[in-house]
Amino acid sequence: MSALESSTLRRPELAAEGRRKIAWAEAHMPVLGRIREQFRAERPLAGETVAICLHLEAKTANLALAVQDAGARVVITGSNPLSTQDDVAAGLASLGVEVHSWHGCTPEEYRGFLDRVLDAGPTLLIDDGGDLVARLHTERRDRLGGVRGGCEETTTGILRLRAMDREGRLRFPMVGVNDARMKYLMDNQHGTGQSVWDGIMRTTNLLVAGKTVVVVGYGWCGRGVARRAQGLGARVVAVEVDPFAANVALLDGCQVMSGEEAAAVGDIFITTTGNRAVLTRRHFERMKDGAVLANAGHFDVEIDLPALAELAVETYEARAHVRAYRLADGRRLYLLAEGRLVNLAAADGHPAEIMDLTFALQALALRWVREEAERLGPHLVDVPREIDEQVARLRLAALGAGLDELTPAQRAYLSSWSHE
Ligand code: ADE
Repeated sequence: MSALESSTLRRPELAAEGRRKIAWAEAHMPVLGRIREQFRAERPLAGETVAICLHLEAKTANLALAVQDAGARVVITGSNPLSTQDDVAAGLASLGVEVHSWHGCTPEEYRGFLDRVLDAGPTLLIDDGGDLVARLHTERRDRLGGVRGGCEETTTGILRLRAMDREGRLRFPMVGVNDARMKYLMDNQHGTGQSVWDGIMRTTNLLVAGKTVVVVGYGWCGRGVARRAQGLGARVVAVEVDPFAANVALLDGCQVMSGEEAAAVGDIFITTTGNRAVLTRRHFERMKDGAVLANAGHFDVEIDLPALAELAVETYEARAHVRAYRLADGRRLYLLAEGRLVNLAAADGHPAEIMDLTFALQALALRWVREEAERLGPHLVDVPREIDEQVARLRLAALGAGLDELTPAQRAYLSSWSHE
């Protein structure tokens, strides 16, 4: 049976359009392209079955194809019910990767797709947010024994893995790709910075200049979102629980306030905390008429959706991906993309040049964990510095950007204490 026949797709007839999107992204992903060439020649994953659970869009398709070119059988599902692009899913299946996913799946269908991927008997994993790993360690323990190791994409997934490792529950090594410098400095900051505004602007078609943007959570993602907001002419308010991050926000030119104070002044609210219920009833009650609410965190728990629904006397679709909640006093709050990650549920995710770096790390980390699994043991581990640096150097080479070198005298100076 071909991959297309064994896949679960909603719109198989869109395969040609999906392949065009995949080709466009590929043309802007030179670092992954170099690794893929090497994989094609060396086949380092021959004999492996790789289960992937990632936001299924065009850049992700290129990672799946690189893993396939490394000799593996690849089975993929989406990591969020709203981020799968049906045309890309069909295009990828037509290129030999087994796909189980569609846009807008129900929670039951979502879990069913995770199970289809696990049914393939994976030996290696790539996860985003930790759902695949969590399911393997709970409902699908029948497939646990076959897995040598895997890689995790995001902050949320790493938090879950850290808890599993701490409690001694993790059964194989997982590489925390998010914590590599070529990930969080690029993807979290610049990727999220651009793609979140892409999602908000596409969805609302409203002006950002002159507005007050409240960024809840001033980690790397929040910083990126705040800086792009400033570039668009907004005033930015940062809401933080960490005193160090709050100080960074102040020096970045943001105002720093409590959530409740910020609720009263914000026009656009963006949550980037990775935590639950960071905007809730006590915030909604203070918000201005017309406030826009968007989430950029992995799960749809940052904006307290049950509390918002409870407060509303009426809800209606104001535009595609925009749900209006009318409160008893007539104020309307506008929720984007059902409170799911706005950059993926209502746009195309991070730019291709950014995902090039993240997915280059994923490809190299997957090869590494396969080779080193026994030595690493069942723990959350960092991407080795050499892989991080290799991706950094490949990116510079792809751009033709030169790097300076230390002279022997400088090297000696840096390692001496006497300074003679
Ligand atoms: N595209 C694929 N995976 C993504 C992610 N984790 N964030 C943004 N864009 C993506």
